This record gives sequence, structure tokens and C-alpha cells, in this order.
Amino acid sequence: MANPSLLILAGDGIGPEVMEQVKRVIDWFGAKRDLRFDVSEDLVGGSAYDAHGTPLHDETMAKALAADAVLLGAVGGPKYDALDFSVKPERGLLRLRKEMDLFSNLRPAQCFDALADFSSLKKDIVAGLDIVIVRELTSGVYFGEPRGIFEEGNERVGINTQRYTEGEIDRVARSAFELARRRSGKVCSMEKANVMESGILWREVVQKVRDTDYPDIELSHMYADNGAMQLVRAPKQFDVILTDNLFGDILSDCAAMLTGSLGMLPSASLGAPRGDGPPRALYEPVHGSAPDITGQGKANPIACILSFAMALRYSFDQGDEATRLEQAIEAVLADGARTADLMGADGGQPISTTQMGDAILTALDNSL
Ligand code: IPM
Ligand code: MG
Repeated sequence: MANPSLLILAGDGIGPEVMEQVKRVIDWFGAKRDLRFDVSEDLVGGSAYDAHGTPLHDETMAKALAADAVLLGAVGGPKYDALDFSVKPERGLLRLRKEMDLFSNLRPAQCFDALADFSSLKKDIVAGLDIVIVRELTSGVYFGEPRGIFEEGNERVGINTQRYTEGEIDRVARSAFELARRRSGKVCSMEKANVMESGILWREVVQKVRDTDYPDIELSHMYADNGAMQLVRAPKQFDVILTDNLFGDILSDCAAMLTGSLGMLPSASLGAPRGDGPPRALYEPVHGSAPDITGQGKANPIACILSFAMALRYSFDQGDEATRLEQAIEAVLADGARTADLMGADGGQPISTTQMGDAILTALDNSL
């Protein structure tokens, strides 16, 4: 049988640097666990624009649609700030999400024991935190029509449209409930049903899916502004948070920062099942392209490596190997290895991107 295919789109900024370390980890699994992938690489974002004048070439789009999973680094950077909106690096990522129909975006926010001191919140509020935000990713105000900047009388008006169909809400709700079944069975859904009709429909459909097909799930609803407040007040009250595209964008940055380790958080964006095979899927770190530290060997590769762990679990049915990789990373952190982003006020000598990769490979060897 052919090996599963993995398309790597390292992207811009620190993307290629952190992806170098992921490739070493992929090779380790091939050599030591006989878990082999057909890896191919291509461009996305600013680097694709530089090469082809578009942030995502049609050929790359076709490869992504055909791949068993896509692993993405990061896109964007100040070099591309002045580009026309239609060819900005972010448009490449949004096109991948939309055309691959990756409607369910899983964003775990987990506070690693060794790093609880790095949170901007008090340690006891975040220690042991382990939540997942399920963000709807292919609809809502990011994609709704009409959109644009139009002339109206003697001034311009900027328009974006929040739009959700019942089907779109239904399918992402199901993915949150399925995930919750593998965790604590608890989901909190967030919208603004007090001011938005789309929020009213969201709440109704989520409740109906729960009542019809997931009666074992403990479902609560919260207005998204209250949700943001509760996330910083007492984040451990949550397990799975289900929300729309825009609220999910904001709430997931907030949740990520709670953990004190933005450089450590992975994400998975999943589509509908395809026959017997895995769903279309794209895995990427939550952090951005970090132009301020690009090319200096300072970037933390852990978020990108953990994204590969999510690929092992969700696309390749290798939950045990994913756990092996996650535990190797925990061991490395417990051992005191720190990239520059994880240095506390007490100082110490940070290790480089490559040295973090070395440490993780050694911990993987030790796991055998
Ligand atoms: C994210 C990012 C993206 C988004 C940008 C880069 C388009 O902020 O993945 O959270 O807004 O969805
Ligand atoms: Mg964001």
C-alpha cells in the first residue's frame, strides 16, 4: 500500500525554520517507527507571491486537495503589507481553508506544567488548563456576501456579512460534540444571540443537534463577550468551547495567551470524511510568521511539531505515536530546555530552534 501523503507548506517568516525541525521528526518516525509518509513541499503566502504573483498557485491548491494531510508553517510579514488585498499572504491560507472545506478548526489551549509561570494570569488559575476551542472556519463574516467597500451617496461604506446556514452550524456542532465525547463530555457554545439573528439560529441549531443526537453531552450557552471574560477569570470551567469564525479567531488568541506559551500551540482544521480515508485536513501552529525573529534561529518549533502530532492522531490514526511525541516534548520542557520565547525573568541561556529539535529527537529515542 502506498504511504500516506503529506504536503508541507512552510510559508513565510519563521515558517521554514520551524518546519525544518518537523521534517527531522517526520524522518525519525520513518526510521524508528516504520511510519513513512510521501512528503512533498510547496509554497504558500508571501513566498508563493514572490515566486508566482499569487499567494496560492492553482497547482498547489490541487496538491492540497489531493493530499492526505497538509502541514503549514506560517504566512505573512511586513514585506507584503502594501500588497493589494486580493493577493495578500493571508488570502492563500483562507483559500486553502475554503476550498478544502475545513469547517472545523480545533485549537487546543493547554498549559504545560513546566511553563505555568509564563502565563500573564496567576499560576493557580492556569496550571493544568486543558481546553479546546472548536472554531467554525469556512463561513460567517469571513466569507459572507455581500462584502466590499462601496460608494453610497458622497461617502464609502465597508460591508461584511455574518451568514450561517443551519447545515453549517449543524456540522461544526457535531464535530465539537464528537470531540467532547472523547474528553469530558462538556461543551460551551458561544455567540451573541442577544444582538445577532445569526446567533439566535446558532444557539437553536446547536441545542437541537445536542438534544437529537448527543443527549449524553452537557451543553451550555454563553454570550461571547461573557465568554471572553470567563476565559480570563476562570478558564478551567471550560472543556470544549464551540464558536463561530470571528469569535473563534478572537477567543482562541485569548485562550492561547492564557497558557503563556503561544509558541507551543498547534491547531487542526478538518473537513468532512472522504469515503474510507481521513477527512481533508490542515495542521498549523497558532502562532504567526514572527518577522521580528526570522532567520535568527530563535523560533520555537514546538507548536509546529505538535501540529504534526495532531496529524498523527486525527489524519493517520496513530494516537499512540502522537502521545509518544507529545510526551517527548513534555520531557524536554521538564528537563529545562527553553527557546528564547520561554525565558523567564530569571534569565538563563536559551537554546536555538535546531537545539530544541535535537532535544526532542533525543527524547523520542529515549521513549523506545
Ligand atoms: C488565525 C489567523 C487568520 C484568521 C489570518 C491569518 C487570516 O488570525 O488563523 O487565527 O484570521 O483566521
Ligand atoms: Mg487569529
